[in-house]
Amino acid sequence: MELIVARNRADLVKARGEGRLALVPTMGALHEGHRSLIRSARAAAAQVVVSIFVNPLQFGPNEDFSRYPRTFDADLDVCREEGVDVVFAPSVEEMYDPARQVGVSAGRMGAIVEGVIRPGHFDGMLTVVLKLFNLVQPDVAYFGQKDAQQLALIRRMVADLDVPVEIVAGATVREPDGLALSSRNRYLSPQERQAALALSSALRAGAAEKGPAAIRAAALAVLKQAPIELDYLALVEPGTFEEVPDSYAGPAILAVAAKVGTTRLIDNIPMGNVGT
Ligand code: PAJ
Repeated sequence: MELIVARNRADLVKARGEGRLALVPTMGALHEGHRSLIRSARAAAAQVVVSIFVNPLQFGPNEDFSRYPRTFDADLDVCREEGVDVVFAPSVEEMYDPARQVGVSAGRMGAIVEGVIRPGHFDGMLTVVLKLFNLVQPDVAYFGQKDAQQLALIRRMVADLDVPVEIVAGATVREPDGLALSSRNRYLSPQERQAALALSSALRAGAAEKGPAAIRAAALAVLKQAPIELDYLALVEPGTFEEVPDSYAGPAILAVAAKVGTTRLIDNIPMGNVGT
């Protein structure tokens, strides 16, 4: 089947087929992490729609919206290779009415951890995800564990607003040396790429320990050695992203964010019961 490129609402309606529909929302610059989500979607649904939209609402004024990598032709090749049915690639004008006012508010979970560094980011992310759900009307949508707080917030939105879409999570895809794949990795110089390995090594060092205090200490010890600028290391409860107390023994996510040169990277590792 020929890949259909839908640019607007009318194209989307025309492209709509029969059967279970899966949506994989992306901002393009597709890599193996995106591919793994697309493959899971392809295996589970009759129709697969991939959206490619660099969402201005989720970038802060000093962030990389204008220089975010845009590789549309290569992205279409990836979608063809993975047997995608429809790519939805709207313009900013198609998505946002200049008179728009109403959006989704992420609440407390949007203001903590990653939300401290990126105020408004999660409101903009949830707003576009809800719009994509309303436009594409999928039965199921796929998101990566790589963006763990984003995933937790999308699950919260779907529950809180009764959004009739099933959310499926895909595991983080990594390079053989541990670096989590990210569209932003292409900004890294060879030296910076080496420094960036501290994020995944720190998470592994933390995950090898028992008890919140030991987990945080082991991860921080690795991060302190590296030529990076740490934004945060957080050991959080998976559903709420609240920091867990030292006495906590249940499941947690160890999350890290740092600037490597001018590139900001995030990573995390889900942990079973962290023990005490
Ligand atoms: P983007 O960064 O393009 O990511 C699209 C999807 O791919 C997200 O669900 C993300 O978690 C997943 N992903 C990214 N890197 C991954 C990796 N290494 N392994 C597995 N999955 C990975 O996230 C966004 O776009 C946007 O915020 C979006 C949800 C599209 C809303 O604009």
